[in-house]
Amino acid sequence: MNTDQHYRAFYITTVWTLGLLFLGSVVHATESSLACPDWPTCFGTMVPEMTGGVFWEHLHRLVAGGLVLIFMAATYMAWGPEAERPSVRKWAVAGIVLLLVQSVFGGLTVLMGLPDAVSTTHLALAFLSLALATGLTVVTSAGWSTGGGAGESLRGLRTLAVGGAGLTFVQSVLGAAVRHMDAGLVCPDVPRCLGQWIPPLQAGTVIVHFGHRVTGMLLLFTLLVLSVKAIRSLGPSATRTMAVAAGVTVMLQVLLGFLSVYMRLAVLPVSFHTLLAALILTFTVGVAVMTWAPGESTSSSAAPSESGAVASGS
Ligand code: HEM
Ligand code: HEM
Repeated sequence: MNTDQHYRAFYITTVWTLGLLFLGSVVHATESSLACPDWPTCFGTMVPEMTGGVFWEHLHRLVAGGLVLIFMAATYMAWGPEAERPSVRKWAVAGIVLLLVQSVFGGLTVLMGLPDAVSTTHLALAFLSLALATGLTVVTSAGWSTGGGAGESLRGLRTLAVGGAGLTFVQSVLGAAVRHMDAGLVCPDVPRCLGQWIPPLQAGTVIVHFGHRVTGMLLLFTLLVLSVKAIRSLGPSATRTMAVAAGVTVMLQVLLGFLSVYMRLAVLPVSFHTLLAALILTFTVGVAVMTWAPGESTSSSAAPSESGAVASGS
């Protein structure tokens, strides 16, 4: 395990971001989004009474503030050790700027009374922040310098992982559109939609909801292929673990999506649905970034290594 302080700080940043995403989803699901009518204060104070919806909304804001501080601390710790990798420094600064923009968007969702486009953008920026934090964690990890390489097998994995990460992002933004257009129950039945495998695609809400289900299946297929390929071509390694985790998580995610409809958008399934989407993004970005690792060469005859190397004969 890498003992570098800044690696651990970026790792904590990634886990913190996952927690914050979950909390954001709870804010919406518990209808607490406008519990604090003002921003940046809540009822004119930074220490409101933490009851009812104010508890979730203000907690979300405090945890968001904590994330900005942790990201800044990680960047500060990385500054010296990463002097020879200016791109790491630049991405870390970009991450802080992104979080500040995101916080302003959080404020705008409140001040503008939750317009669909602003709320959906808030989710999109949250997922971009997560991808950036994940990328920084991977490139500062010990596995980065010892694994990877541009072997044939890793190039195949890269295409699947990059495609999977892109599709996860698109699917999540589509999910946020489903949520903010109140389209979560326009198909009240599962697995069919309005009693049919392909429903009449006239209303915009049905198109967005059905599109989310179809893209979900495409993502399921992509990540299962990614897992199988990783099992076949990689030795025991962090990269293989992340690829398999992406496959397992996407299966649970499809179940949770169906459960969200079946349970009429209950707080728990929809909040965990957002969390699993975020986890899938972390795993796919993690695998994708690892395939660019500059470490030892990974020709088809290379032995498995601890971080991401290729199994022999693959
Ligand atoms: C102080 C700054 C912030 C404020 C005031 C804020 C406010 C809010 C509000 C009011 C909601 C509910 C939106 C709705 O119902 O449409 C929300 C949801 C959410 N927030 Fe924040 N937020 C802030 C920072 C952040 C940050 C930094 C992140 C992540 C990096 C984040 C991630 C999320 C997510 C993922 C949701 C769920 C979005 C959805 O349901 O589509 N927020 N936030
Ligand atoms: C397979 C990959 C999937 C991913 C990555 C994914 C991701 C998401 C995300 C990120 C949201 C937005 C949550 C938020 O705004 O906080 C969402 C919403 C939603 N998803 Fe999925 N989803 C997937 C599959 C499915 C499937 C198969 C269904 C089946 C019906 C489904 C049903 C829903 C529903 C109903 C909502 C709206 C929840 C609400 O209105 O609160 N999802 N999804």
